[in-house]
Amino acid sequence: MIQKSFVMMKPDAVQRRLMGKIMSRFEEKGLQIVAVKLMQIDEELAKTHYGEHADKPFFPSLVEYITSSPALAMVIEGEEAITTIRKLVGATNPLEADLGTIRGDYGMNTGRNIIHASDSPASAEREIGLFFNEDEICDYQIVDNDLIYE
Ligand code: TYD
Ligand code: MG
Repeated sequence: MIQKSFVMMKPDAVQRRLMGKIMSRFEEKGLQIVAVKLMQIDEELAKTHYGEHADKPFFPSLVEYITSSPALAMVIEGEEAITTIRKLVGATNPLEADLGTIRGDYGMNTGRNIIHASDSPASAEREIGLFFNEDEICDYQIVDNDLIYE
């Protein structure tokens, strides 16, 4: 099943000039990038995006971090994209993330864990809608998809 997921490189990834390397991982896997936006996330959007964590002790510092500098918001498409991307991203705590995952390779600390990815179809739909207008998402065929999918 072809799915779309919302992925965001957090301010630490942008500041550390990791955008290109991380984007390459998704492309090399066979996923398709269908929307990209480098943006300064404001406090209201950060709080809405992370609303499920509003009561957690780390919420204020999470909002401060996400709004500290631009982030790279993306929509990425592919078969079972949501699960596939969460696997590529790795565990929330980079210390527990396997090497070879984005967080495992580039992160040191949960509070600076490089990247966000939707965890379910419902959250993907919600998060894509928060960050992108319909007309900012490209619908296009990759010509060599028969090399990627059976
Ligand atoms: P969560 O949704 O649990 O993780 P994930 O990003 O893997 O879906 O948490 C959202 C973000 O909140 C997480 O990426 C980093 C931050 N966070 C902390 O700063 N401290 C914590 O103890 C946890 C659990 C999360
Ligand atoms: Mg989450």
